[in-house]
Amino acid sequence: MKIVYLSPSAQLGGAERLLIDLLASLKKAEPSWSLHLIISGQGPLVDEATTIQVPTTVVPFPAALSAIGDAGAGGPAGDQLSRLGILRKLIQAGPAVASYVRRLRRIIAKLAPEIVHTNGFKMHVLGIWAKPSGVPLIWHIHDYPSQRPLMARLLRHYAGRCALVIANSGSVAADVSAVCGKELVVRTIYNGIDVEKFSPTGPRADLDALAGLAPAPPETVRVGILATLARWKGQQTFLQAIALLPPALPIRAYVMSGALYQTNGSQHSLAELKSLADELGLTNRVGFTGFLSAPAAAIRALDIVVHASTQPEPFGLVIAEGMACGRALIVSEAGGAAELIETGVNALGHPPGDAARLAEQLTLLATDPHLRARLGVAGRATAEERFDRARLATELLPIYRTALEASR
Ligand code: GLC
Repeated sequence: MKIVYLSPSAQLGGAERLLIDLLASLKKAEPSWSLHLIISGQGPLVDEATTIQVPTTVVPFPAALSAIGDAGAGGPAGDQLSRLGILRKLIQAGPAVASYVRRLRRIIAKLAPEIVHTNGFKMHVLGIWAKPSGVPLIWHIHDYPSQRPLMARLLRHYAGRCALVIANSGSVAADVSAVCGKELVVRTIYNGIDVEKFSPTGPRADLDALAGLAPAPPETVRVGILATLARWKGQQTFLQAIALLPPALPIRAYVMSGALYQTNGSQHSLAELKSLADELGLTNRVGFTGFLSAPAAAIRALDIVVHASTQPEPFGLVIAEGMACGRALIVSEAGGAAELIETGVNALGHPPGDAARLAEQLTLLATDPHLRARLGVAGRATAEERFDRARLATELLPIYRTALEASR
């Protein structure tokens, strides 16, 4: 079997990290298969693929194509103006996109895949245009299309040319069906992670040093949010919740991220979050570590992992990772994220954007080490049972088979 994967980002966001786990899982299950990854630029994804011996070809997006993005143009943040802005950019990018598609088509044709598997919105569409005819295309959808007005239209338009969709949660699957129609076959495959790498024991990052803070006293409870700086990931809610905690609580909080994606406007800058922390009087209570390339060690350095997305989270890899590391978790209960946890058993919850409730749950956990330990043990068991990446290959094989048969 020959499969070509298309990634519209070379950075290691959740979708890209999942792609690496998926490729690793397939290589282990089917060592004779030939897997090839085409990436839209140079970046850490290239190195990760090389490490697991998946050959890559970098076909850089023209600048005009990188600049287009409608993340944040829909949903609560959306307005007519930003949609018009996207449309204008799209028209300007037309010629560059057309020549990119021609180039992509030549490269894919040379690789002669039996299946093309795309892993992000731009590639879902470019893949339709560039794939050899008769070769089934699978869209692996990691985010809600209904929140991307432009993408939703394009996906609906091209749904008939997509063999099958993989969604990362039931919630995303339902959204894809609502956007694209019931005829499109959608299967849910929950994400998987390396549960050996994400384990309760192993090296721990020195978060204080990374954040440039003096070491905290030994009784300090460490609380962190590990997410990209996309506005909806909830760093702001997190900081507001920390500001509501009783000052005597021995807590130190960490914002563990840096800007990842190129699309403008939809992300916080670190400077912006730092000044919010200052305004909230958190200068010495919060550390900013920047982007962390070794998330397992960073999670292990925490006592409490916070997931605080203010909009429904499609999946939330950090939830699976926090569980696998046996850490106490507080999850924003909406979307796919809510499908992953059993509140009170393997995590605590709070409503999206509710800083006051988050602060209550933080206080509860910070003052109760036994509860933290109990949630951590249950979380580890859940991760082993539901989020081991070995499952990815098992669930993918019948999907690839179905796609192939349907194309014959
Ligand atoms: C996207 C989603 C996130 C998910 C990741 C991997 O980044 O926003 O929820 O965990 O993809 O599927």
